[in-house]
Amino acid sequence: MSGNSESLENLSTENRSFPPSSAFATQANASADLYAHADKDRLAFWDEQASALNWHKKWDKTLQWDSPFAQWFVGGQINASVNAVDRHVAEGNGDRIAFHFEGEPGDTRTISYAQLLADVSKAANALTEIGINSEDRVAIYMPLIPEAIVAMLACARIGAIHSVVFGGFSADALLSRIQDADATLVITADGGFRKGAAFALKPLVDEALKGETNVANVLVVKRTGQETAWNEGRDIWWHDLVNRQNPTHTPEFFDSEHPLFILYTSGTTAKPKGIFHTIGGYLTQAAYTHKVVFDIKAETDIYWCTADVGWITGHTYMVYGPLINGCTQVIYEGTPDTPHKGRVFEVIEKYGVTILYTAPTLIRTWMKWGDEFPNKFNLTTLRLLGSVGEPINPEAWMWYREVIGGNNCPIVDTWWQTETGAIMISPLPGVTATKPGSAMRPLPGISAKVVDDRGVEVGNGHGGFLILDQPWPSMLRGIWGETERYKETYWSRFPGIYFAGDGAKLDDDGAIWLMGRVDDVMNISGHRISTTEVESALVSYEAIAEAAVVGAADELTGQAIVAFVILRGGTAHADGDALVKELRNHVAKEIGAIAKPRQIMVVNELPKTRSGKIMRRLLKDVAENRAVGDATTLADPNVMKLISEGLKSSKDED
Ligand code: WTA
Repeated sequence: MSGNSESLENLSTENRSFPPSSAFATQANASADLYAHADKDRLAFWDEQASALNWHKKWDKTLQWDSPFAQWFVGGQINASVNAVDRHVAEGNGDRIAFHFEGEPGDTRTISYAQLLADVSKAANALTEIGINSEDRVAIYMPLIPEAIVAMLACARIGAIHSVVFGGFSADALLSRIQDADATLVITADGGFRKGAAFALKPLVDEALKGETNVANVLVVKRTGQETAWNEGRDIWWHDLVNRQNPTHTPEFFDSEHPLFILYTSGTTAKPKGIFHTIGGYLTQAAYTHKVVFDIKAETDIYWCTADVGWITGHTYMVYGPLINGCTQVIYEGTPDTPHKGRVFEVIEKYGVTILYTAPTLIRTWMKWGDEFPNKFNLTTLRLLGSVGEPINPEAWMWYREVIGGNNCPIVDTWWQTETGAIMISPLPGVTATKPGSAMRPLPGISAKVVDDRGVEVGNGHGGFLILDQPWPSMLRGIWGETERYKETYWSRFPGIYFAGDGAKLDDDGAIWLMGRVDDVMNISGHRISTTEVESALVSYEAIAEAAVVGAADELTGQAIVAFVILRGGTAHADGDALVKELRNHVAKEIGAIAKPRQIMVVNELPKTRSGKIMRRLLKDVAENRAVGDATTLADPNVMKLISEGLKSSKDED
């Protein structure tokens, strides 16, 4: 193979495979024939999935595809909130618990579906009273408390488009999102609890609204009780307005293609993109994927997705998917290390969580903290584990399986994006024999392929670009107000085909391995090497919990690999130079000498976005001795300073 013609080298191999247990397979929601069934007639398959929802008026046409613009379930009329809440009460399940809410300080609330219906109805009546309707956009800027979900559902109920802005974002970020969507209402809270203290949100809203906007009101939930500056005439306490409303509300129904929400994804430097989704197709795929990928049994499962509502994972797998499927969930307001590093495990034990959906960044953090925290709690109620957000390194996958899952839970590594709206590539639990680190294959109904730079499919054993060549129901309908940017960003690299920037490879069995963003691919002596493979090789060394690698300019090889690693708690290892030498040799042994890092830095933290993705761009600045670029989307702004200082001192020693 000539390295130069490959879009991405295929370096690592994985021989471990975990077939489903027969006990799990027997009771699974998914069955192997789903693939053939969907292949036979894809649109009929999606019709069937859409039929699981409550429609006010059935659609006339399944798909109208004027590439790159899709309409699904054309002519249908539907209400998202009715599907998420009312139907369960109507079916006699009003007493079922929708949410076990756990506040960070330890306060709890239990909310049944009947209670949720009353809360959403009151909130919908409240929004109507202050003049919000289906022509409006509503910005929601809240901590993870039940009112955030009630607010989303109330908007959906009256056809107002919600735009949730993550509560950790700055006033500037909030303002630009309010302006871009031209929101007329902001729903927020006085503050929330994080890392053992109350933080304030309302002052950031006040700051943002000094900018030019059409916001007429700010609706404020009292969460912390802290002193809150008040703008008479504009600001309204949630409890003053909502509590006195009628707990019944007669829903209207909206066109299947009416927008349900806008969610901004931050590009690395450019202006955030307002990805928007519409009701019918989005709900169809949210409900279907949640049912088959998480094997949900509404009567018995206790499901916990650890994402925030500010991300797409919170939208699809905490709000719409699980509620449509009528299941019982845990939601937790705070951070995983408050008041101790076992908090998540304590909550699993407390509520008897059966299904856990989380991100590799948290799994690797747990590995770093050490096994003693999970080992202190009873996690045996767990029966299925999920991962999302980044490639999961095989060793982190194995740790998740053994230490959290007690070798007893299938793991679903789910690939998708804000843009795809719902899971696209994932094992089916009970059907798929999983490989640690692979998302395996597209779900029934989805067509995903790996192609080379000319758009030609690569064979097994080769790497390239991940593309989606058939429209899917929960696909983004565009970038809010930016049609040209939508075409340019997603549909121009391979004309008529969706490409959203990920590299992937097919192994010898045709299983898909996600290889990170193609912007991060390194070019070492003409070989294109994915950051993911080198990072996974580093994490497969026992003493390493987490790793990030970048390609830094190098006179000899074009680029050379610079690695940043975090050590694992409680593991013995060589020190300093000896460790670095062992690690370099380990990488060479695992995936080849070409991938040997030029330099390895031991650090305590890595720069991550607030949704937990490693920001390699900043590490590259450090590795190339540049001033660190725009770091405003970092979860912890101090991290880069510590890393740069550490790197300087390690160079001095060389
Ligand atoms: C990455 C999150 C590997 C990928 C739902 C994608 C993943 C981006 C996986 C979207 C996975 C997400 N394996 N990479 N299982 N899941 N990604 O919009 O690069 O926050 O393009 O959506 O995360 O991130 P977003």
